[in-house]
Amino acid sequence: RTHTPKHKESKHATCNRSNICPDAAEAASCPHAASRAHSLDAMPGPTNFPVFGSLVELLRKGGLRRQHEALIDYHKKFGKIFRMKLGSFESVHIGAPCLLEALYRKEGNYPQRLEIKPWKAYRDLRDEAYGLLILEGKEWQRVRSVFQQKLMKPTEVVKLDGKINEVLMDLVGRIGKINVNGRIEDLYFELNKWSFETICLVLYDKRFGLLQEEVNEEAMNFITAVKTMMSTFGMMMVTPVQLHKSLNTKTWQNHTVAWDRIFSTAKVYIDRKLKRNAVRAPDDLIGDILHHSSLSKKELYAAITELQIGGVETTANSMLWFIFNLSRNPGAQRKLLQEIRAVVPLDQDPCGEHLKSMPYLKACLKESMRLSPSVPFTSRTLDKDTVLGDYAIPKGTVLMINTHALGSNEEYFEDSKQFRPERWLRENSTINAFTHVPFGIGKRMCIGRRLAELQLQLAMCWLIRDFEIVATDNEPLDVIHSGLLVPKRELPVAFIRR
Ligand code: HEM
Repeated sequence: RTHTPKHKESKHATCNRSNICPDAAEAASCPHAASRAHSLDAMPGPTNFPVFGSLVELLRKGGLRRQHEALIDYHKKFGKIFRMKLGSFESVHIGAPCLLEALYRKEGNYPQRLEIKPWKAYRDLRDEAYGLLILEGKEWQRVRSVFQQKLMKPTEVVKLDGKINEVLMDLVGRIGKINVNGRIEDLYFELNKWSFETICLVLYDKRFGLLQEEVNEEAMNFITAVKTMMSTFGMMMVTPVQLHKSLNTKTWQNHTVAWDRIFSTAKVYIDRKLKRNAVRAPDDLIGDILHHSSLSKKELYAAITELQIGGVETTANSMLWFIFNLSRNPGAQRKLLQEIRAVVPLDQDPCGEHLKSMPYLKACLKESMRLSPSVPFTSRTLDKDTVLGDYAIPKGTVLMINTHALGSNEEYFEDSKQFRPERWLRENSTINAFTHVPFGIGKRMCIGRRLAELQLQLAMCWLIRDFEIVATDNEPLDVIHSGLLVPKRELPVAFIRR
């Protein structure tokens, strides 16, 4: 059966009482919207075969590794909103700012993402607590509020610039040392080590020396375990995890072993931190949280482990794309260097204070995350019946918020394939904030956002000051979905010392 776009783009004009986006205004305030909205069955979407749904069609389009491209195609074909079934998993896809705004306005106290069953299955198997990534309801809010006050407050997070710089000095030194004609072998792994080292210094106040020649094997294994865990859970999201568990499939085994390593390593570091927690430095955010929070040790293990999971590969991946986008846009790179030189005196390290006067740097990062978001989509499970656009969507439905599709849409971003930081700096910019959501939206948005932005901005200051980042070829770079969006081949860039 094919879901046809029967009611695509129709509007309830009489209900548009505000000048904000009609869909958002309508969904938020139109008293007749629910009664006039169409049911989920009327929503368009790709061919929906019995049992497999659209899985076969998606496989034909390149499979799960190319799902980000398929989603762009489907939005082009079916419009702002469509439904899709992959095996037993059904979801509604949102690719328009007005619908996101409507969703945001209707958000309850405990927004919920799609249940990550493989992660929960592991926690239940080993009797571990859930962290922020998978907690729900009041429990989620309780843990979130413990970390929120420190991690989401720019004035608190900026205090971490010293720690971030300590690691960046090592990164820049290492790039200078290990490059061969400017090329770095496995740059992504080097960046993973950098982001791991940074988040560990922030979370545990400990250096692991990952950017030195002799590296700590335990920490290296941790990074590899996070990669394995991320690349094995996708399959168990579209096929029942209980089946994998009872058949003890290779996927389940690898997933479990990866989590075992992640938890056991994190616990060692957290225990050390808790022991040393009586005397705290002013930039010891996590020490303060541990000291004041009412969370049990088990809850702390889970929450901090999941902060680390959330913070390592996402930041490394965003940095990788940031480097790539600047390599392909030497004009933007030159402009950025000028800004850095104008703001940061030669004898000083870039710091949080300098960033306040660097709008072009911020625009470059925004543009890079629009063009090449690390996380192509996030999700929400509706906790009540909700009208979105023309449809009444029942409680329990999983909504996919298609960040990548939004950022690539010509309707919202002219010349969307071009890297144009200037688009974010225009006076009277008409860019709708809901078209750019690389960290998600609302109460449940990424809690590490401020920290990640600070790290990425400072990192680019350090890199560009010392190196010109050049493209070693201009061939297209294929992107695949492997938990995050990653380049299919080694990044074609070189670092040439200035
Ligand atoms: C550039 C780097 C990063 C990107 C692109 C990113 C992206 C995201 C996205 C898209 C979400 C889902 C938000 C939503 O559903 O609305 C998320 C959630 C989360 N992120 Fe990040 N993230 C990054 C860095 C970090 C860092 C550094 C940390 C840790 C300090 C972190 C920890 C988390 C946690 C714990 C959640 C779950 C929050 C909750 O549900 O309450 N992330 N992130």
